[in-house]
Amino acid sequence: MSSSITSKNLIIMAPVLKFPINVGRIDDVQELKKSRKNNIPNRFVRDIAERPALATSHSPMSTSIPVIDLSKLMKGNKEEFHFEILKLSASCEEWGFFQVINHGIDLNLLEKIEKVAMEFFMLPVEEKQKYPMAPGTVQGYGQAFVFSEDQKLDWCNMFALGLVPHSIRNPKLWPTNPPMFSDTVETYSKEIRKLCKDLLSFIALSLGLRGNVFEEMFGLSVQAMRMNYYPPCPRPDLVLGLSPHSDGSALTVLQQGKGNTVGLQILKNNTWVPIQPVRNALVINVGDTIEVLTNGRYKSSEHRAVTHKDKDRLSIVTFYAPSYEIEIGPMSEMVDENNPIKYRRYNHGEYSKHYVTNKLQGKKTLDFAKIPPNNSF
Ligand code: OGA
Ligand code: NI
Repeated sequence: MSSSITSKNLIIMAPVLKFPINVGRIDDVQELKKSRKNNIPNRFVRDIAERPALATSHSPMSTSIPVIDLSKLMKGNKEEFHFEILKLSASCEEWGFFQVINHGIDLNLLEKIEKVAMEFFMLPVEEKQKYPMAPGTVQGYGQAFVFSEDQKLDWCNMFALGLVPHSIRNPKLWPTNPPMFSDTVETYSKEIRKLCKDLLSFIALSLGLRGNVFEEMFGLSVQAMRMNYYPPCPRPDLVLGLSPHSDGSALTVLQQGKGNTVGLQILKNNTWVPIQPVRNALVINVGDTIEVLTNGRYKSSEHRAVTHKDKDRLSIVTFYAPSYEIEIGPMSEMVDENNPIKYRRYNHGEYSKHYVTNKLQGKKTLDFAKIPPNNSF
């Protein structure tokens, strides 16, 4: 039996890998553009089946993900509240994604985090590499989820930080340049944390559960942040900005750069559906934890990012998850004879370790917890 993981194991900072790994050369995508002109190194060129243009070419879908007005949930009248809760429930069941407007977070703060993030990515590469993401880890500047020399790379530069609990922080990875970077991250992460708590309580209500059920269960929730910068790509048809995956969190909050092009796509009924940015909205998605807790009723949808020929794109992503000590499994309210149990119980720290020590591979990571369907006739 494996021992449970505690926050002291610092799994976000230094996941335990089974073997020493050789990730080969990982080119910095922004630097590539300067040196290689229009030539795309082979390591970024996807196998035909994975290429974005092919996978979306048959898309008849013009629908977009639901927009939830948080002010209606926070202070709407009874009817408004009821209507919005139903919409929330339908979004989580059908899409696993929604956009939230009137979220109450100061728009200046959203602008500010975007500004410091862009300033950071525009620094000379030597400056950014003062905060290196070590191979096989997920904090600092570089590319996460690369574990072997022959793995394809994403057309993306990342910068990631563990935020809560404090024990997952690595102070050496907190930039001193741009000067306002770290302060802004602190303020932003506090506001996003409040939003996650509010959203989780409405998600609980939308399931007919007590509003505080997740907060009580999660303990001191783990919070981490990743900034993804996608430079323009001369051949967006050949590469992916970010490989298909579902998020290992309970809830993810994604801020898209103001005025950026479409880039995020969700897999729905085998079709990649682009998320059209909505002004001042935040994109929210259900992660693997909520899928397991609701026994699959709310979906942790597979998603990916694609690139653009002339335009860059920024996303600022917050992952909110239970404390590593917590045991997770389908809640008894979500299981009955029509909804047989689909996932086993597991320690969330073990799952996080599993998540960060495997490459992004669609929804495969959640096989960790799947109970095979009963095949008996
Ligand atoms: C992520 C993610 C999508 C994007 O960071 O987990 O899904 O558009 N990002 O950057
Ligand atoms: Ni994601």
